[in-house]
Amino acid sequence: MDSRLNKMTLPFLLAARDGMPKTIAERTRRVYDRLSGVYPASTFFFHSKAHRRVMEVCEIRDGMKVLEVATGSGEMFRRLVKVNPSGATIGLDLSPNMAAKTQRRARMEFPNARTQCKAVDARYMPYRDDTFDAVVCCYMLELLSSDDIVRALLEFRRVLRRRGTMTLVLIGENTEIFNQLYKVAGKVAPAFWGRQVEQDIPELIESLDFRIVTDRMVKQTGYPSRVLTALK
Ligand SMILES: C[S@@+](CC[C@H](N)C(=O)[O-])C[C@H]1O[C@@H](n2cnc3c(N)ncnc32)[C@H](O)[C@@H]1O
Repeated sequence: MDSRLNKMTLPFLLAARDGMPKTIAERTRRVYDRLSGVYPASTFFFHSKAHRRVMEVCEIRDGMKVLEVATGSGEMFRRLVKVNPSGATIGLDLSPNMAAKTQRRARMEFPNARTQCKAVDARYMPYRDDTFDAVVCCYMLELLSSDDIVRALLEFRRVLRRRGTMTLVLIGENTEIFNQLYKVAGKVAPAFWGRQVEQDIPELIESLDFRIVTDRMVKQTGYPSRVLTALK
């Protein structure tokens, strides 16, 4: 990364309580590939409330060009397609099985909508600058090293048009007992759980020239989430 970037992001990189010195993308891809069949259950019990909150704050309207990064099994993706039937809704996930599942379900439920979901790494996205009106990314940054969080957020910024919105969902760090359990889970299976980064992200995204416009906490089945929307 260039020196200007290091200067901007150094506080984050130094402060990050980083249990993941390197992104372990290959293992992450494998584990999510294997779990793609059962993953919808986890979304239903732990993520659906935050997904609904995203829809309330992300200001996505029909006709937009929308990108969802890290679709998982596609529950959020279908919500996005539903409100954007005559726009274009593009998804990506590191796991080919997750991407294929997302694509299949979206095509089945919304055969006339413009949708596409492919296996792509969020750190290196194959889209032109200023392409999207909105980028949504739920529960992915936890799986990246600090360097790669910066890299991915810079990619989000690059592909967003000016005044476009970025909506992030992060695993909340406001519940002590949950944090302790998460730490253990992250040690046992880092490629699946990663580690919590929520408290460091607002300052980081502001240092990358995003302006935070909404910031909400939600909790579902004891699982805390933070929903942040920011403007480029
Ligand atoms: C915890 S799941 C969240 C899935 C979904 N966003 C949701 O809200 O339920 C994390 C997802 O991020 C994907 N992922 C991890 N690293 C990624 C990367 N570098 N690029 C794209 N997707 C990635 C995984 O394959 C997995 O599907």
